[in-house]
Amino acid sequence: MRKNCKECGGTGYVVEERQGKLYARPCGCRKPERATALIGQAAIPQRYRERYVFETYQPAKESNQEEALLIARRYAEEYPAFGEGPNGILFMGPCGCGKTHLAVAVLQDVLLRKGMPALFVDLNDLYREIRSTYGRPNAEETEYDILTPLVESPLLLIDELGCVSTPWAQDTLHYLVSQRYNEQRPTLLTSNYLDQPERSSEVSLEDRIGTRTRSRLHEMCKTVLINGPDHRRAKS
Ligand SMILES: Nc1ncnc2c1ncn2[C@@H]1O[C@H](COP(=O)(O)OP(=O)(O)OP(=O)(O)O)[C@@H](O)[C@H]1O
Ligand SMILES: [Mg+2]
Ligand SMILES: [Zn+2]
Repeated sequence: MRKNCKECGGTGYVVEERQGKLYARPCGCRKPERATALIGQAAIPQRYRERYVFETYQPAKESNQEEALLIARRYAEEYPAFGEGPNGILFMGPCGCGKTHLAVAVLQDVLLRKGMPALFVDLNDLYREIRSTYGRPNAEETEYDILTPLVESPLLLIDELGCVSTPWAQDTLHYLVSQRYNEQRPTLLTSNYLDQPERSSEVSLEDRIGTRTRSRLHEMCKTVLINGPDHRRAKS
């Protein structure tokens, strides 16, 4: 909000007349303020906030990261539509190749550019949080309270898909994914697990999350398989 805004005079609202009635709409000068507030509410870990943006992503040579970056940027620009295809992205690839970096960059760009609410969730943390409510009948938050904002968020980033593969973890994930699937809400995901692992001894994403969930994700997301070096190693 700007104090000396010519449109709203610093009140943050513009009063308009439509069909003889007066309406107040938020003034355009509130946008940056709103975006900052939305980023604060998105639950993006502090570690990622400043670092995981498009500007700091440098595609490694001998990798397909340039292409992955282009897809991610285009997604953020076109959000909430994404061509004719699915309205989400599943970033897959080995450890440290930049999946979370790109996915968080998309989330932050959408928050800033479109001013629409979005949420980040790390599946490991989510499972831990839900488990902590069990056996506590008077817990302040129930499993339902924890999951509902994630089900309803206009855009959700699920980080570390497949990190736990117990039947309970698969069921919890299936609930979240299928609810979003039914409402056609755009979802971003990252996973270390591949559909066709390089070695036959390795488990696939489908093994980790279950057939029903993988199947829905095929319809919900464009799969972006990133290759390239582990950037964490390269740094140290
Ligand atoms: N192309 C890139 N340019 C600059 N930094 C990068 C790039 N890719 C990854 N990094 C950096 O490498 C580190 C790891 O990236 P990130 O967290 O995105 O990995 P990841 O693919 O999600 O790995 P994991 O599977 O372990 O979760 C971060 O510090 C990130 O900023
Ligand atoms: Mg990651
Ligand atoms: Zn104004």
